[in-house]
Amino acid sequence: MQFTINDRPVEVEADVRTSLLDLLRDHLGLPGSKKGCNQGACGACTVLVDGERINACLALAVQYQGRSITTVEGLSGAEGLHPLQRAFIEHDGFQCGYCTPGQLCSAVAMAGEVERGIPSHVTADLTAGTIVLDHDELRERMSGNLCRCGAYNGIVAAIAETFARQPAQREQAA
Ligand code: FES
Ligand code: FES
Repeated sequence: MQFTINDRPVEVEADVRTSLLDLLRDHLGLPGSKKGCNQGACGACTVLVDGERINACLALAVQYQGRSITTVEGLSGAEGLHPLQRAFIEHDGFQCGYCTPGQLCSAVAMAGEVERGIPSHVTADLTAGTIVLDHDELRERMSGNLCRCGAYNGIVAAIAETFARQPAQREQAA
């Protein structure tokens, strides 16, 4: 199978029944994407495929041949950490950190969905040209990513600061 993973071409031999998550973790030495539930319920395994977020535990790797996959290992660049990663540190957006790679990848893709005007379950005006990433939108759109440590206040604050440009205090107080 051939992929582009974190901007690098990758060729790997694996059983066609291998999930994308197992391929990344067990065959390619990329353990950043985490295996929580392994059944699509927790979001710990979230990665980006051509910029869209998916649960890698539910995806067969063979289905994604030729695609561009970004894992948490690929979020940082030449300038260092992604701004969202810095915000997570600043706002204490994690405790054990197990859910963090999934939260980061999910939030990056989520911001793109808002940018493209894709509505969520709580979007009131489906005809509005612009979607405001307010507190409720942010929480709803990130509801597929669970945190057992309950670091949600910090997570929401970090995402809001990075993508919604709202003061963190609002999220902290809610
Ligand atoms: Fe994939 Fe939980 S490990 S959703
Ligand atoms: Fe521990 Fe989220 S920081 S599960």
